Amino acid sequence: MRTAEIRQKFLGFFESKNHQVVASSPLVPGNDPTIMFTVAGMVQFKDVFLGNEKRSYTRATTSQKCLRAGGKHNDLENVGYTARHHTFFEMLGNFSFGDYFKRDAITYAWEFLTSPAWLGLPKEKLMVTVYATDDEAYKIWNEEVGLPPERIVRIGDNKGAPYASDNFWTMGDTGPCGPCTEIFYDHGADVAGGPPGSPDEDGDRFMEIWNNVFMQFNRDESGTLHPLPKPSVDTGMGLERLSTVLQHVKSNYETDILSSLVRAAARETGVPYSQDVPSLKVIADHIRACTFLVADGVLPSNEGRGYVLRRIVRRAIRHGYKLGQKGLFFHKLVPDVTATMGDAYPQLLADQDRIVAALRHEEEQFARTLDIGMALLEKSLEGGKNQLDGKTAFTLHSTYGFPIDLTADVCRERNVQVDMAGYERELAEEQERGRAAGKFNAAANVEYSGADTAFEGYDKSRSEAKVLALYKDGAAVSALQAGDEGVVVLDNTAFYAEGGGQVGDTGKLTAGNNVFEVTDTQKVKAAVFGHQGKLSSGSLKLGDTVLASIDTDNRLATARNHSATHLLHAALRSVLGTHVQQKGSLVNSERTRFDFAHTQAVTTEEIARIEALVNQEIAANNAVSATIMKQDDALKAGAMALFGEKYGDEVRVLKMGEFSTELCGGTHVQRTGDIGFFKIVAEGGVAAGIRRVEAVTGAGALAYVQGLEREVKSATQLVGAQPGDLLGKLEKLQAEQKALEKELAKLKGKLASSAGDSLADQAIEVNGIKVLAAAVEGADSNALREMLDKLKDKLGSAAIVLASVSEGKVALAAGVTADLTGRVKAGELVNFVAQQVGGKGGGRPDMAMAGGTNPAGLPAALAGVATWVQAK
Ligand code: ALA
Repeated sequence: MRTAEIRQKFLGFFESKNHQVVASSPLVPGNDPTIMFTVAGMVQFKDVFLGNEKRSYTRATTSQKCLRAGGKHNDLENVGYTARHHTFFEMLGNFSFGDYFKRDAITYAWEFLTSPAWLGLPKEKLMVTVYATDDEAYKIWNEEVGLPPERIVRIGDNKGAPYASDNFWTMGDTGPCGPCTEIFYDHGADVAGGPPGSPDEDGDRFMEIWNNVFMQFNRDESGTLHPLPKPSVDTGMGLERLSTVLQHVKSNYETDILSSLVRAAARETGVPYSQDVPSLKVIADHIRACTFLVADGVLPSNEGRGYVLRRIVRRAIRHGYKLGQKGLFFHKLVPDVTATMGDAYPQLLADQDRIVAALRHEEEQFARTLDIGMALLEKSLEGGKNQLDGKTAFTLHSTYGFPIDLTADVCRERNVQVDMAGYERELAEEQERGRAAGKFNAAANVEYSGADTAFEGYDKSRSEAKVLALYKDGAAVSALQAGDEGVVVLDNTAFYAEGGGQVGDTGKLTAGNNVFEVTDTQKVKAAVFGHQGKLSSGSLKLGDTVLASIDTDNRLATARNHSATHLLHAALRSVLGTHVQQKGSLVNSERTRFDFAHTQAVTTEEIARIEALVNQEIAANNAVSATIMKQDDALKAGAMALFGEKYGDEVRVLKMGEFSTELCGGTHVQRTGDIGFFKIVAEGGVAAGIRRVEAVTGAGALAYVQGLEREVKSATQLVGAQPGDLLGKLEKLQAEQKALEKELAKLKGKLASSAGDSLADQAIEVNGIKVLAAAVEGADSNALREMLDKLKDKLGSAAIVLASVSEGKVALAAGVTADLTGRVKAGELVNFVAQQVGGKGGGRPDMAMAGGTNPAGLPAALAGVATWVQAK
C-alpha cells in the first residue's frame, strides 16, 4: 500500500467515526512561543485542549507535518543511525476534545490496525505499553481487546523524575500532557532489539507505531499539573513507520517516498544506491525537512528556527562531502521532494524555485568554509586523540560555520568525544558579549485570569467599559494614581491590540477628570487587551466605568496603510507572479512595510506597474467587506492565508472588490477610495529570497510627493535650470565639469614641467655625480615621473629624487641616468628618502617610485641625499 493511500485510509477511518478532517498546520506554530516547531498533531489544537478556544467539532483527525529537531523533541542526532528516526515526518492523529476518552481511543486504534476492513495487521505482531499506574488502560487492553498480559507492558517514570516517562507525554516544558499507551509492531526475530521496557528496547525490532495520549493536565512553568477542563485524547502515528509495516520492509528508508529520496541522494552524490550507507539516509531525511521548512517561511540564519534549518542543511552537506561530493548538490534534490510529496502538499510545487534558491544560497555560503573547517578538524584529531577540545569546536562553529552537532556527528563516526563543557563555556562568553536587550512589552508580562475583553473596534471608535484589572510595574493593583504608568484591562474596547502586523491603537480612557493616556495596546493573552500608558490626572480604580476612545486620526491613517497592504500584496502577485507570499509586515499610521518571497530586486518599471495597479483599485472605490466564515470555506473561496499564522476554526475574510481576499483580523477602511493615494517609497532585500517594499498612503503619500517636489524645485533653482529642464541642465553641468577637470590636469602638468626646468639649476656635484634632491608643489606621481624624465635629459648624467606633499602624504620619484646605475640605484635612492618619511618603495635601477605618510621628515631626508650619494 503506497504512503498516499495509507494517509487517506487513516483519515477516512476517523471520518467514518464522525471526526472532522482538518488540514495540516504549518511547521512553524502560530502565536506559540513555547515551542519552535510543530512536533505533533496536537500542536494546532493546544488551545482547544486547554479550553481557551472552542471549535464547532469535538472530534478531529489530521495528517500533520512535523519536525523534531531542536527543542524538547529532537531526533536530529538519531537520523541515519536507526531505521525509524527522522527530523521531518508526517503524524497521523485523531483527537477528542472532551468527547470520547480511553475506551474509544483504544478500541478505534485496534479496529483500524487489525480489522480486515481497514489495515488487517496480524494481531500477534502487536504489543502495547501503558503508564505504570494506568489500570484503566491496562484493563481495556486486557479485558476488552483481549491482549494477553505478556503483551501489555507497564512503564513507570523511567526518565528520572515524576512523570518523566516514555508513557507520559508532554508537548514541551509547559502545556497539555497526560499518560499514554503506545502500540508496537514486532518486525521479527531477525531484527536486533528487545520489547519495550527491556534493556535493548532501542533496537529496531519492536517499533512504536502509534501513541495514544490521554490528555488530562496542563503543566505550568513550575512543573505542576493542573487538570484540563475535560479529559481528552490526542494520538499520533508515524506515517513513515506505518508504511514500513504495510510495505513489508524493515526500515522507513525503504518505503516508497523515502527510498526514492535515498536514490536521489545517491544520484547527486555520485555513489551507488544502497540502504547501508547512513549518509544517504541522512541526506534523504534532511532534504525533506529543509524543503518543508523553507516552504513554511523559515530561512537559514544564526538564530532560532533559522539556525535549526542551517544546522540541518549543513549536516546534510557534510554527509555529501563525506561521500566525496565536493560540489553543490543538496538544492538539486528539492524537485525530488516535490515529485514525491507535491500531490499531498501542492504548496511545494508553487514554491519550488524559491526553495531551490534559498538552499542553494546556503550551500554556496557553507562551501566557502567547509573544506578549511574539515582540514582543521582532521588536524585536531590527528594522532588518535579521543577528545576534541572545546576551543577547536567553538572555532569551527564561530569561524567556519560548523554547528556543534555537525562537529559531534563527525567525531561520533570516529569514536571521539567533544569537550562539550569547554565548548559551552566559549559559547557562553561570546553570547555574553553579544547579548542584546529585548523589547519590553508590559502587557505580555502580567498575570491575568479574569474575563475576556470584547473587541468593539471594527465599527466603533469609542465605548463605555468597565475596568477589570490594573497593573503597575507588572503587579496587579487596585488603583492607579496620577503619574502612574501601567496597564489597564477592560471588559470591552474599541482599541485594536497589536497583531497581524498592525500596531496597537493609542487614545484615552476618561472618567470625568480622570484621564489615562493610552500609548499602545497589546494583548495580555489571546482575547484580553492591555491598554498601556500613563494616568495623566485623577485616579483609576478596579470596577470604574471609563469612556475608552481611540485616537481616530491615528487609527484611520493606520487603516489606510493596512488596506493598502492588501492591495499591494495582490498587485505584487499580479505583476511579479503568484510565488509572491507575505513573509512579514508592519503597519502603522506612517507607512506599511511588507516583506515577501521573491528572488530578484523589483525593477523600477515593475514598481511603476504595481503602483498603477494599486491606485487603479483605489480609484475604483470598491467596498471593503469583512465576513466571518469557516476556515475551509474561506480557503476554498480563494482567501490568501499566511503560512506561520494559526487561524481558528472561524476566520475573518477581508475582501476588497474582486481584487483582494485575505484572512485578516485588522482594522480597515470602508471603501478602497478612502486610501486616497498610494506610493512606494523603498524597495530592497532583507534576506536571501526575501524582498521588502515600503509604501505610504493618503496624507502621508501626499506629504512624501510634496517633499520630493520641494527638493526638485530647490535643486532647479540652485543649478539655475529652466523649470522642467533639471536633468538637461545637470547633464550639461556634468559635461562641463569633466572638461574642466581635464583642463586642470593639463595645466598642472605644464606648471610642473616649467617648475622642473628651474630645478635643474639646483643640482649639485658630489664625487663627480650631479645630484638633485628637491620638493615640488602640486605634482602627483605622474607629474613627478614626467619631470624626472625631463631633468634626466637636461642634466645628461645625474641622480635625482623628487618629492611632493599632498593631503599629508608624500609622493617620491627617483631617477638615475643609465651611465650611473652601476654606482647609484634609483630603488635604493628612493628608499633612502622613503624610510625617513614613513614609507617604502621600489622600481628599476634607473627609475623608482615610493610613498610615505610623514611629510615632517621630508626636508631632512632630502638634505641628506648628497651625503648618501657621497658614501657610494
Ligand atoms: N502527541 C503525541 C505524540 O506526539 C501523540 O506522541
